[in-house]
Amino acid sequence: MKVNGKAYRTVWMEDGVVKVIHQALLPHIFKIVDLPDHRAVAEAISSMIIRGAGAIGDVAGYGMAQVAREAPDEGFWDYVNSGAQRLRQTRPTAQNLFYAVKKVLDAMKAAPNIKEARRIAQEVAQGIADADAAQCEAIGRYGADLIKDGARVLTHCNAGWLAFADWGSALAPIYMAKRQGKKVFVFADETRPRCQGAILTAWELYQEDVDYAVIADNAAGYFMHRGDVDLVITGADRIAANGDTANKIGTYEKAVLAHENGVPFYIAAPSSTIDLQCPSGDAIPIEERSEEEVLGAVGLTAEGVVTRVRITHAKAHARNPGFDVTPARYIAGIITEHGISKPDKIKLIKPS
Ligand code: MRU
Repeated sequence: MKVNGKAYRTVWMEDGVVKVIHQALLPHIFKIVDLPDHRAVAEAISSMIIRGAGAIGDVAGYGMAQVAREAPDEGFWDYVNSGAQRLRQTRPTAQNLFYAVKKVLDAMKAAPNIKEARRIAQEVAQGIADADAAQCEAIGRYGADLIKDGARVLTHCNAGWLAFADWGSALAPIYMAKRQGKKVFVFADETRPRCQGAILTAWELYQEDVDYAVIADNAAGYFMHRGDVDLVITGADRIAANGDTANKIGTYEKAVLAHENGVPFYIAAPSSTIDLQCPSGDAIPIEERSEEEVLGAVGLTAEGVVTRVRITHAKAHARNPGFDVTPARYIAGIITEHGISKPDKIKLIKPS
């Protein structure tokens, strides 16, 4: 990925400090934030400075490497276990978070001594981020075969490079198709209440020089009914063993609309998003976020300050589920780094 022509990853680690692109300030301000310890990493995940399933997993892996560095020899494992728990408690839905914490922890526990455990934590954390980028590139290659020259693709939320170490999941096939010389047009759902589509996807597509239009969430049916959408590709936060898929709130209704209008609906996600312990979507924990996100909106003032304004009257209440579950029957295929699977075959893929 390139931002203003310069190569970046969304998250990386230098000398024990985790560095992330501050996503809550985009697209108005591009800023890299230093996260000096695992508490800062946990706070950055909770406050959505860093967000998107893959990026949350990558940063949590690095957070575990910090836990290992911070832990004193005396009481090492107590510190490590409580650090792991702090990271797990930041957000409930994205499987990649739990995948990454477990992967680093398991590797540390297999180490012969504390010194080795610290070294291995760093190595495994780096491996998680590198694998994430490589898997997303593979998703791009497989997914690009679905995109014909001139295709019009609808996506929901942000599942581009900002939501991973690099490439993205749902947007990777679009970026790959563009590099193959195909013309692609993207409908980017605005994705209330946090507006990841309007704020992040639109900015990424601009950086990648892909033609797009932001649409209000409730406009997707209009465009599908007119025959203006050739396929839908969204990301995933957790995929259950039966193929039911949790993704950003509003995905379910886009899948039903796609079904109604004969538009193929695809999910794109690396295998680290698959949770074989969840038999179906009913078992996926769904985050309910602050009602303030629905009652207001964030934007740039004329003075150049990113600020929150209130939309509703002062006493209004709201509900704010962060995700919904799309039943497997609406999903034409799930694009992973291994290829395109029917949802009922996803249980054959073991998260690597
Ligand atoms: O709440 P967020 O911004 O962390 O949401 C997660 C997501 O980015 C989306 O649900 C996305 O479509 C899947 S994660 C790549």
